[in-house]
Amino acid sequence: MSEKAERTDRFDAADECEIEESLRRDGYSPAVIDHWLHPRNFGRMTSHDGSSGVYTGPCGDSMAIWLKVNGETISRARFISDICIGAVASGSMITELAVDRSVTEAMWLTSSDILEALGGLPDEYAHCALLAEKTLQEALRDHNALKATPWKRIYSR
Ligand code: FES
Repeated sequence: MSEKAERTDRFDAADECEIEESLRRDGYSPAVIDHWLHPRNFGRMTSHDGSSGVYTGPCGDSMAIWLKVNGETISRARFISDICIGAVASGSMITELAVDRSVTEAMWLTSSDILEALGGLPDEYAHCALLAEKTLQEALRDHNALKATPWKRIYSR
């Protein structure tokens, strides 16, 4: 079962239609609604090559991202977040954007890239994309630190 499919049983079809309609009325794009209802890469990663720890943004919501890196390329990324629609959609999107990029390329991913890929977020929730950007940067920094001092891996699990 794919990671996307694992999450689809949260709502039955009728609930999902009602939720979609309500979110559309609230100004959420189809991509945001899809990523919130079916978040990609949602969940923890037990064996990783870098993790953000729990990063909390100024609004009080939190996110954590884990990375698996093969050579210089991010091969897997997973995230957890608070229930905020913008944060879940942004975490889902940034993990998709990060996979198959080099660590250096991923450092350049910004909230603008997330917002563009999601078709935007309502203005009052645009900062949710920044939470995902900052959390990914923390995970990348942790990866670089682990690479520079591999013995710290013992304490990072
Ligand atoms: Fe705080 Fe979305 S991340 S409102």
